[in-house]
Amino acid sequence: MITLNDVQKKYSSEVSIGPVTLQIPSGGITALVGPNGAGKSTMLTMVGRLLGIDSGSIEVAGYDVSKTNSKDLAKIVSILRQENHFVTRLTVRQLVGFGRYPHSKGRLTTADEEIISRSIDFLDLSELEGRYLDELSGGQRQRAYVAMVLAQDTDTVLLDEPLNNLDMKHSVIMMRHLKRAAAELNRTIVIVLHDINFAGHYADYICAMKQGKVVEFGTPERIMCDEILTDVFETPVRVIAGPEGPLAVYY
Ligand SMILES: Nc1ncnc2c1ncn2[C@@H]1O[C@H](COP(=O)(O)OP(=O)(O)OP(=O)(O)O)[C@@H](O)[C@H]1O
Ligand SMILES: [Mg+2]
Repeated sequence: MITLNDVQKKYSSEVSIGPVTLQIPSGGITALVGPNGAGKSTMLTMVGRLLGIDSGSIEVAGYDVSKTNSKDLAKIVSILRQENHFVTRLTVRQLVGFGRYPHSKGRLTTADEEIISRSIDFLDLSELEGRYLDELSGGQRQRAYVAMVLAQDTDTVLLDEPLNNLDMKHSVIMMRHLKRAAAELNRTIVIVLHDINFAGHYADYICAMKQGKVVEFGTPERIMCDEILTDVFETPVRVIAGPEGPLAVYY
C-alpha cells in the first residue's frame, strides 16, 4: 500500500502540486493519467524519494519515505524516471546489472546474474544484451531501462511512461508482464500512461490528475466514461463498447 497524506510540492509561487491525499492498494496496477503538466511525474518521483516533499507524508509498505534510509528504500521501491538522459558506453547487461546494486553492492552473485538474465528475457533483449546503449533504437533503450528497474526486484514498482517509444507488440508484452507480476508476485505497480485505453484495459485502478491534484480515483469501469475523461483531458472523449471492454475515442 502507498499512502500519501496531504502531500505538497511547491516549485515556485505559481506552480505547486497537491495537496494530495491518496491510498494506492497493494498488489495491482494503478495507472496514473492526466494531461501534460498535471503533476504525475512530480507525484511519482516524490513517492520514490527522488524529489523531496515540502509538506505532508508518504508511506510505502509501512515505511515513511522521508525517514527511511536510501539503502533500505531501494529494496522496497524502484522507479523508472520519465527521462533517462544518460546514454554512456554501457552494455544492456551492464545497465540491467545496476538494478541489482542495492542487493549486491557491486558484487554480483549467481542469483543476481539469474535475475538479470530473467529481466533481459522478459523485455525481449537477449539478443541485444552485449550491445552498447548508444547502439540501440529508442524503444530498445527504453526496454533496457525497464529491465534494469525490474531487476531491482522490489515489491513496489513506479514507472513513468515506460511505453514511450515502444511499438504495439512491445507495449502489449510489457503490460502483460506487469499484469502478471502484480497478480502472481503481488507487486504494487504504479504506471504513468498517456494511452487511456491501455489504462482501461490493464489497470486495476486509475488515478486521474489535473492541475496538480488528484481529481478521480477508481476502477476502470468507473473512470472510463465520457464525462470524466472529457473533463480530465479537457478534450471531447467518447467511450464506446469495444470487443474487450470500454474504448475511449478522441480523434
Ligand atoms: N523542476 C521543476 N521546476 C519548476 N517547475 C517544475 C519542475 N518540474 C515540473 N515542474 C512543473 O510542475 C508541473 C507538473 O509537472 P510534472 O512533470 O509533474 O507533470 P506531468 O503530469 O508528469 O506531465 P507530462 O505528462 O508532460 O510528463 C508542471 O507545471 C511543470 O511545469
Ligand atoms: Mg511526466
